[in-house]
Amino acid sequence: MLVNTKKVLEDAQRGKYAVAAFNVYNLETVQAAIRVAEKVNQPVIIALGERYFGEVDVEGFSAMVHAIAAKAAVPVSLHLDHAYEKKSIIRAIRCGFTSVMYDGSKFDLEHNIRNTKDIVDIAHMAGVSVEAEIGSVARGAFSDEDEGDGTLTDPQSAEYFVKETGIDFLAAAIGTVHGLYHGEPHIDLSLLEKIRASVQVPLVLHGGSGTPDEMITQAIKLGICKINVNTEISMAAVTHLQTHIRRYSDAKAHLSTIMSDMQISMEPVMTKFVRLLANKTN
Ligand code: 13P
Repeated sequence: MLVNTKKVLEDAQRGKYAVAAFNVYNLETVQAAIRVAEKVNQPVIIALGERYFGEVDVEGFSAMVHAIAAKAAVPVSLHLDHAYEKKSIIRAIRCGFTSVMYDGSKFDLEHNIRNTKDIVDIAHMAGVSVEAEIGSVARGAFSDEDEGDGTLTDPQSAEYFVKETGIDFLAAAIGTVHGLYHGEPHIDLSLLEKIRASVQVPLVLHGGSGTPDEMITQAIKLGICKINVNTEISMAAVTHLQTHIRRYSDAKAHLSTIMSDMQISMEPVMTKFVRLLANKTN
């Protein structure tokens, strides 16, 4: 069933686990995410970035997720990831997304607060929950995100930001990157502890791909309730296509088989994350 993201994350906060927010781009990625969540019996968040609005029919996509989620045996939420434009957020709210992320992290604190507050007022009127970010996530390898400069979140600013804006969950920048890490990850868990002590709303970790399992487990213990994953999912499908390109270049190859194989190729990586976040490692 489709469930408001706020409810999914408040349950996670109480239960001390995290929910995977998988970035998706088409039917196969949505089906893979929901199938995996059902197998592991965990909720899942389907996340579409504003970045993909050029290629994806947003209203059609939302209707598709609603239809599949209605049949799902686990809670499913539909989230707008990294939106920079108010008009994209209004579009997502109008067509049934259950949460939106306004990313004003490139602005100074007061400017970010003003813009975020405006979004919160609109979204809450429609019963849609809001994620926002202060500090920003830098770019790693193979990432497809619009990138920040890697400024870490200041706990006092986080407290002020949450209080002033009324957001429902906060993306905390603690050193994870979008994409794979260049060298060793430098993730500041003691900073996360301070942010957790400063704000009560569920915390979100961007940049799940390539983040060591142990760091993810520690971050969940310190209050992370949602972890975003994009790059590793794309890489699994792309690697699959590259590996099987000869087979697929056979004139008899059919697109339906290729798409179905691609879906199956993404499921192990999604399963790894859902199990890890749920603390179900065997
Ligand atoms: P990764 O690409 O590192 O998994 O990060 C995804 C993300 O944070 C989307 O918001």
